[in-house]
Amino acid sequence: MGFNNAFALSLSHETVIPSELVQYVVPRFSLKTRIRFDQVESSGDIQLVTVRPEAGAEVMTLVSGETVYITAAGGAVESSDYRAFVDWLVSEPGRATIADFELDGQQIAIPTAADEAAPIEMVIVGNIDHGRELSRDHCRRCHKVDRADKYAGIDNAPSFHAMRTFDDWHIRFSTFYAVSPHKALISVEGSGIEKNRALITIAPIDLQMDDINDIVAFVHSLTPLDLGKPIQFNP
Ligand code: HEC
Repeated sequence: MGFNNAFALSLSHETVIPSELVQYVVPRFSLKTRIRFDQVESSGDIQLVTVRPEAGAEVMTLVSGETVYITAAGGAVESSDYRAFVDWLVSEPGRATIADFELDGQQIAIPTAADEAAPIEMVIVGNIDHGRELSRDHCRRCHKVDRADKYAGIDNAPSFHAMRTFDDWHIRFSTFYAVSPHKALISVEGSGIEKNRALITIAPIDLQMDDINDIVAFVHSLTPLDLGKPIQFNP
């Protein structure tokens, strides 16, 4: 059945990596993305280690000299939660969070420079055609999902192409159902988020976790808007 957002992955770290640092960084990621991890003593699905793993990404160097890598065990490497965490750790906000942390007034870790970080290739597992179909059926009510489409979407809903330019588009499209306004009308079976159907006044949208991967694959296939221009919100 694989890993999906219904179950929190566990996270462990080597003892040489200060717990205080992990306790500082992980909740800030969770707050941003609503993705949580169960913190365990050892052998987590996700591990912060100081020995270069076979697959993973370098994320920081401790002032004590060790390099810290992130890696995933078994099927967790396929999980969108794991990938979102890796993406965030090497992103600007993630790196700023790592750099901000101090113990007794001392910086503890230096984030890996963006061009040195070798994040794991984003694995796109969904079906593009099905994602396009789902997007046209369900999201086009409010978003412009197809550039050729004359319909512009509703005013405050950004077009998919505009959002595709965001560094964290992948996180946003993996978690959109947990944020307003979607929260009120979209149910995703297996997401662990329960809905009170009585409160949904417009036609509800019912999706499966696999549908989310398909939508992500479809959005991945879109050409982002030209980054040279200031981001147009709803072109
Ligand atoms: C009822 C209208 C409506 C529908 C239907 C809808 N959206 Fe949205 N969506 C919005 C609005 C409005 C925003 C902007 C929210 C904001 O800026 O706070 C938004 C924002 C987003 C974002 C950005 C979220 C973020 O973290 O910034 C994503 C991704 C997204 N929508 C994807 C989808 C997908 C995929 C679907 C279809 C499965 C969908 N939306 C269906 C109205 C809608």
